[in-house]
Amino acid sequence: MKKTITDSTIDQDVLTYTVGEDPVLDLALAKWDCMGTAAHVTMLSEMKGLKKPVVTKSEAAKVRKELGKIAASKDFKILVEDQDVHMAVERLLTEKLGDLGKKIHTGRSRNDQVAVDVRLHMKSEILETEKEVCALAAELCSFGFDAGAIPLVGRTHLQPAMPSTVEMWATGHAEMIVDQLANLEAAYALADANPLGSAAGYGVPLPLDRQRTTKLLGFARTLHNCFGASMARGECEASLLSALAQLMCVLSRLAEDMILFSMPEFQYFKLPREYCTGSSIMPQKFNPDVLELVRGKTAQVIGWQTAALTLLHAMPGGYNRDLQDAKLLYMKGLETTRTTLRILAKVVAGMKVNPDACRAAFTPGVFATDVALRKVAEGTPWRDAYHDVRDQFALLYDGKPCEVSNLDPDEQVALKTHEGTCLGIDHDLYQKRISEATAAAEARLAALEKCCKALFK
Ligand code: ARG
Repeated sequence: MKKTITDSTIDQDVLTYTVGEDPVLDLALAKWDCMGTAAHVTMLSEMKGLKKPVVTKSEAAKVRKELGKIAASKDFKILVEDQDVHMAVERLLTEKLGDLGKKIHTGRSRNDQVAVDVRLHMKSEILETEKEVCALAAELCSFGFDAGAIPLVGRTHLQPAMPSTVEMWATGHAEMIVDQLANLEAAYALADANPLGSAAGYGVPLPLDRQRTTKLLGFARTLHNCFGASMARGECEASLLSALAQLMCVLSRLAEDMILFSMPEFQYFKLPREYCTGSSIMPQKFNPDVLELVRGKTAQVIGWQTAALTLLHAMPGGYNRDLQDAKLLYMKGLETTRTTLRILAKVVAGMKVNPDACRAAFTPGVFATDVALRKVAEGTPWRDAYHDVRDQFALLYDGKPCEVSNLDPDEQVALKTHEGTCLGIDHDLYQKRISEATAAAEARLAALEKCCKALFK
């Protein structure tokens, strides 16, 4: 039986089971754990009203320097005996600094420690995700702007409906994707609060200055109630997963349209050959596997969101070990969503429009509403015009002679000019939203990095 920092009597199987995937997952938290510890130790060294300081300012500086090295180290490892990143960092500090390393956990629990790590990690990851959301939206916009007013059959019930454009299709999806930033921002706002100092969930009999660590770590606010702070673990993860699940749903719908419109029967769009996969038996195949897997991964993220809520719904107040699994769920959710955003941006960037196929798809029915509206312009009341046209299309439907004819899709598209329709797409609006959101995410990432640098100085 190997010795652990907390307890050397744990059965090996129990240790393996309880530690789970932490030695791997927690690697992503190493930098943030070091940052949290640097802030905690700084605060401990400044704590007033004690006969003897827990750690002196110069000791705190030594610890911070070591933490900076651990955070930057490429070969940082978490052993099963460590259980998690928190104990691995304490082990390394103790190996290096002796008794000083043993003091860093004063007035702290792994419960508030992991909670602070997760929140810092999440803040950074949400901002990176937001940048990737913007990058995908920018690709869709540039695909759309390049295609401009190339006519595309607009569909309802998947049936041909009204004249539209490739630009309206692409920027419509881009707008849906950019709107998802609101959900990510809601998750960010929840994550941007400091649980450190809540210890195991009930505070400690030491004059901790919780506002100080909030400031050092760059959080917008402190999670005031220590018990509440301990219960907020998991809620953040669930809220982020719900934002990710909804974002994935939006991406999945985009993927579905791309699958459909690139089918040989449609050929509106063409996917780059190198982004398609073949079949082991059918030599003619260029399959859109990437896009199908976007659908599949959406199902997974929805599953992880459901798992997070299920994990929480009957959990009693205070820390419970199953909270550890919330970490696995949100990390998987982030990784899957971020990879999906990046791969979709790549596929969109390589996708080509086939204007002839787009125009050839216009059947007379697509212009039916436009024809009725022409009659309205000549003075016919709308409902009468509707019935006149409807009667002709009913004849067509039944295979009888009728007065139904095709119009020119380009001409009809050019008549649609009001806000948000074919020729009314405001390019500046998209460019402004995307560049402002990217800049806002970058500024906050830089602020976080600045806090990190200042702590490891
Ligand atoms: N790895 C643990 C987790 O993620 C750290 C906290 C352990 N706390 C405890 N009281 N056992 O939850």
